[in-house]
Order: sequence, then C-alpha cells, then structure tokens
Amino acid sequence: MKILITAGPTREAIDPVRFISNRSSGRMGYALAAAFLRREDQVLLISGPTTIDIPDHADFIPVESADDMYRAVEKAINDCDIAIFCAAVADYTIAQPEPQKIKKDAETFTLQLTKTKDILGSARDPLNFSGTLVGFAAETQDVELYAKSKRSKKKCDLIIANDVSREGTGFDSTENEVLIISEFETIKLPRQSKENLGHILAEIIADYHRARQE
Ligand code: PMT
Repeated sequence: MKILITAGPTREAIDPVRFISNRSSGRMGYALAAAFLRREDQVLLISGPTTIDIPDHADFIPVESADDMYRAVEKAINDCDIAIFCAAVADYTIAQPEPQKIKKDAETFTLQLTKTKDILGSARDPLNFSGTLVGFAAETQDVELYAKSKRSKKKCDLIIANDVSREGTGFDSTENEVLIISEFETIKLPRQSKENLGHILAEIIADYHRARQE
C-alpha cells in the first residue's frame, strides 16, 4: 500500500528572517511513517521543518508553509491508498509578508492574517481523494466531542484525537495518548511512547482500510 503522511509544523513568513509557527516536533508523524515502513508499505512523508532524521526508505517532500504543503498534497494524494494528516498546519498566514527584514522603528505594529486552505478538509472535495482518510484533532477541551465533529466536517474515515493541554503528551513530547474515532466506535490508547503508538495506529488504520475495501 502507498501511504501519504503529513507531519511537523508549517512556517508562515513575516519577512525573510521571521515566521509564525507552532510547537510540533514532527515525532508523531515520523513515528507513523516508520511504522508503516516496517510493515513494508510505501510511505510519502510531506513534512514541515523538523530536526528528526528522515525514516530510511521513505519518499520525502520537505515543505515550509501551509500553502507549500497544500500543493505537495494536491500533487500526490490520488496516487495513495491511505492519507494521514498529522501535521500542525497554520490556520492563518501573513496577508503580505515583507520582502525585506522589518526594521524595529515602530513601537507597535499589526500583522494582518488571512486563513490558509484546510488541506485535510480539501482531500475529498476539491481533491477527489477516495482512499482511506485519517485526520488528527488537537483539542484542549471536550476532546471526543470536538474530534467527532471534525471527523464528519472534514469527511474523514478515522480521526485521531489528542488532548494537547496535558503536560508531557501532544506537541513536542516523546509520548502521546489518543482516541481513535470511527463511525462505529471510539478506542482509547493510553499514554505511551509515540513510537509504540505509531505501530498500534498503523495496524488499526491498515485493518480499517482492508475492511473498507471488502
Ligand atoms: O509533532 P509532534 O510534536 O509529535 O506533535 C504531534 C501533534 C500534537 C502535532 C499531532 O498529534 C496532532 O495532533 N496533529 C494535528 C495538529 C492540528 O493542527 O490539529 P487541528 O485539530 O488544528 O487540525 C485538524 C486536522 O486538520 C489535522 O489533521 C491537521 O493536519 C489538518 N489541517 C489543519 C489546518 C489546515 N489548514 N490544514 C489541515 O490539513
């Protein structure tokens, strides 16, 4: 099978040296990539900037911004059986990035932000992806409720929800604790290393995909 995985943060340029980003380390997405590779699946990893080694044998597309990530996904998604969106994509970008480094003359200044494209939310329409679609949901309250609503709004088969307000799990941690939500059930995977979770999630996603084909 061919699996597309997005991972890591995006960077939205303010000027040539400054950007808006977030605390995603890429660990969760890279752990999933490594787990699918161990199953001998083919993996295309589309990743924002991270400091993690690229898993051996993964096809790798490095991207910076949400727009770069959208364009990379748009090109590749319909060659894939499963698409998993683990990246922490910026929801807003800078309306007009400055071509030169901004001088610190003004006491205050305002950045105008515009909405980025929802990459996961575009997978079914307009991108016409008909494979198994897996999203992540990063929530800080009513995790299951909000994640269920994301699953249906973004037309995902599965959504993997994490509570990112907890110390030691979620963003930039080595461990995570997730709920896997399908149309049938919610499965809770207790706190453990992202590597372990990657293997369990890869098996659950692959089983779901197989059942969906039958
Ligand atoms: O990278 P780590 O440090 O290991 O941390 C892992 C993680 C916390 C980043 C990961 O487990 C996670 O939750 N990833 C999703 C983060 C996120 O942006 O969630 P969200 O609830 O805001 O977005 C919902 C879904 O839409 C996600 O699948 C996201 O990739 C996708 N999205 C969001 C905005 C956008 N413009 N395009 C998207 O595709």
